Amino acid sequence: MGRAYLIVSGKGGTGKTTVSTSLALALAQMGRRVLIFDGDVGLRCCDLLMGMEDLVMYDAGDVLENRCTLAEAATAHPQTPSLHLLSAPQMATPGDMSKKAIAELIAEAKQQYDDIFIDCPAGIGRGLKNVWMAADDAILVATPDDTSLRAAERVSSMLFERRQLHAGLILNRIDHFLIWVNEEKRPGEIAASLDLPLIGGIPESYDVYRGILMHKTALECDSASVRRAVLRIAKRLAGQNVSFPRFYRVQNQNP
Ligand SMILES: Nc1ncnc2c1ncn2[C@@H]1O[C@H](COP(=O)(O)OP(=O)(O)OP(=O)(O)O)[C@@H](O)[C@H]1O
Ligand SMILES: [Mg+2]
Repeated sequence: MGRAYLIVSGKGGTGKTTVSTSLALALAQMGRRVLIFDGDVGLRCCDLLMGMEDLVMYDAGDVLENRCTLAEAATAHPQTPSLHLLSAPQMATPGDMSKKAIAELIAEAKQQYDDIFIDCPAGIGRGLKNVWMAADDAILVATPDDTSLRAAERVSSMLFERRQLHAGLILNRIDHFLIWVNEEKRPGEIAASLDLPLIGGIPESYDVYRGILMHKTALECDSASVRRAVLRIAKRLAGQNVSFPRFYRVQNQNP
């Protein structure tokens, strides 16, 4: 039985899709069966970020309306066939979808995959509530600025109150130089202030954006430090004990 992760944020544009697609690819390359469930109904983009836009024939809406099966709609990644993508319907809105039917679909997917990444729309609206019933874990993706962190705090309390999910935190776009000059808080400090376990951090990099222009995930981008950061997080999710880089830790914290 696989695990379904909600990939969420309060604020939009923090990197949920970047994180979902790159972690999914990393875990699939480690030999796991992985499904990306694009939960951004009406605004899907996982297919674009993975260079799979010409391969997708069906979407989750087709499965829910019995036009095809999950196996037919889950499209295999061209280079890593143990990674599948279930796209979101493009012409629907979250209000058109039945929460119960989506929960059943994710439960069915859990029988066939080790990891399911549900790439959610930003915020705490219907798009999130449609998919959260079947999730086992939640991963909050935030950037280190206060607007993103305040929104992350709000989402994490809601996930805990309404779904008893204690989210883990991935900090995206962290800037080593700004941490060095004490203008940006250390990832460990941020996680402690939100009372969330830190799963990992991904550095800010121009190469992530360049990769997106070429429809490549962050795991395939030119920045070695981004690729290493994604792999560290993937290994942690797969249950391996991977230490955090030294500068992540709160000062005076033991290694
Ligand atoms: N580590 C990074 N370094 C530099 N740019 C990044 C990084 N991560 C994401 N970005 C940029 O941020 C933009 C938003 O990323 P992404 O689409 O993954 O966010 P999102 O949270 O899924 O957005 P939405 O809330 O709209 O779904 C992308 O265009 C990407 O170029
Ligand atoms: Mg997104």
